[in-house]
Amino acid sequence: MSTRPRRSAPATPALGKVALPDLLAQKHAGAPIVMITAYDAPSGFTAAEAGVDVILVGDSAAMTVLGHASTMPITVDEMLVLTAAASRGAARAARCPLIVADLPFLSFQPSDRDAIFAAGRFVKEAGADAVKVEGAGPTLDRIRAITGAGIPVMAHLGLTPQSATALGGFRAQGRTAAAALRLVEEAIAVEAAGAFALVLECVPAEIAAAVTERVAIPTIGIGAGNATDGQVLVWHDLLGIGDGSSPRFVERYADLHQASHDAIVRFADDVRSRSFPAVRHTYAIAGDELAAFRVGLAAAAR
Ligand code: KIV
Repeated sequence: MSTRPRRSAPATPALGKVALPDLLAQKHAGAPIVMITAYDAPSGFTAAEAGVDVILVGDSAAMTVLGHASTMPITVDEMLVLTAAASRGAARAARCPLIVADLPFLSFQPSDRDAIFAAGRFVKEAGADAVKVEGAGPTLDRIRAITGAGIPVMAHLGLTPQSATALGGFRAQGRTAAAALRLVEEAIAVEAAGAFALVLECVPAEIAAAVTERVAIPTIGIGAGNATDGQVLVWHDLLGIGDGSSPRFVERYADLHQASHDAIVRFADDVRSRSFPAVRHTYAIAGDELAAFRVGLAAAAR
């Protein structure tokens, strides 16, 4: 584990817009970076108002929002709609987090040109500040190409859901000495390629700590222990939306699934018993207008 000094995030975050140097400064100060996914205007606004540093419009939206079984089917056009909505919501808060959009499967893998074009659309059309890409290897060229076009790139190593099948399923990575050493090499490579930050997903805490000490860019963990420079959770996991089981690294800070279910059951009961809507939900009409209306109605019926 890292022995670097740590301090809590400020209780009242500074106003304005979070920028890349702010995240680097947090790494240097040992002030953990808070990242959460968001996929629409209300979640973007709520996350920003709650003071998170980074909003990730993750391709996890394929599963959490669109109901797919994996992240693979989501398209650039679908991600653009979600990113634009989250950006608009976040922009309404006093302090706007950095907005990072995931480049979905097949949007960046084929060529540098595809990668620049897809990344550019997120910045130009959807208000993203940066994009995230999964993997090292061939992805290194894509990181170089996108950053070369002036668009900041967040890297993502460890369990990379877009290649989960090739990795043997949704399982922790870097659990052998050889795999862990490869992960450290990949982290150093994505930094050298120009990434400004690195998500580490589902890797042992000791390996994430070793990576964090060996790169100058901030690391943001999910299922990667407590020594990374920041943490990210998926909106639906953190808030307990959806009735599925959560991975072991998730902490549910609320049970909105149950709360929503209970509220809708109460609404249905109220509709069926005609106790909703009540008088206070109803628009009034002046007595003389109502009387005239009834006279007109009767005349029309003759
Ligand atoms: O898509 C996503 O939500 C992500 C996070 C799990 C890091 O990539």
